[in-house]
Amino acid sequence: MLNMDRLIVEFDKGLRTLFSQAHSVRPHPDAKLPEATMDEAGKKHAAALMRVNHSGEICAQALYQGQALTARDPAVQQSLQRAAQEETEHLAWTARRVHELGGHLSVLNPLWYTGSLAIGAVAGLLGDKWNLGFLAETERQVGQHLQSHLDRLPPQDEKSRAIVAQMYADEVGHAAMASSLGGAELPQPVQLAMKLNGKVMTGTSYWV
Ligand SMILES: [Fe+2]
Ligand SMILES: [Fe+2]
Repeated sequence: MLNMDRLIVEFDKGLRTLFSQAHSVRPHPDAKLPEATMDEAGKKHAAALMRVNHSGEICAQALYQGQALTARDPAVQQSLQRAAQEETEHLAWTARRVHELGGHLSVLNPLWYTGSLAIGAVAGLLGDKWNLGFLAETERQVGQHLQSHLDRLPPQDEKSRAIVAQMYADEVGHAAMASSLGGAELPQPVQLAMKLNGKVMTGTSYWV
């Protein structure tokens, strides 16, 4: 049941996600890789792609938070928390990389956060079967998106590529977890709507 204390805790989490630095328990995947030599255009493009990925991770934080608010089964809640911890690491990795590339984080992050929190909470209210189904589909779509970034990132930018590759491996794991916990396959129109929604976010965050 939601009460005022819980809401304040969640509000605080939201502010921290948006305005403070995330930390990673695992070493950053690019920690041992050298910085690439890139021209300004290449650097700008890589920073923009990593900004998109950072916004995606802001959405992941909000989705997991929304779902944890409403998920019923304690085992499900625990698995969600474990995955959410990895999402926090993704947030830390992408934020640092955007800054290293001389870029800025998306000014629209508060908007993505709020929208995703609402979607996550609604998914959670539909019950664990749909909640987990929604999560599995989200993670699958994020995985496809990350794969496309491996094609689009400058080939010499090994640091960004190592981060995206590890995120991809983690997201595949999250999708498998959500399915194995009993996530249902979502109807095609819902999958399509989610794809369109993702395209709006990624398309906008590339620029702002
Ligand atoms: Fe992630
Ligand atoms: Fe994930």
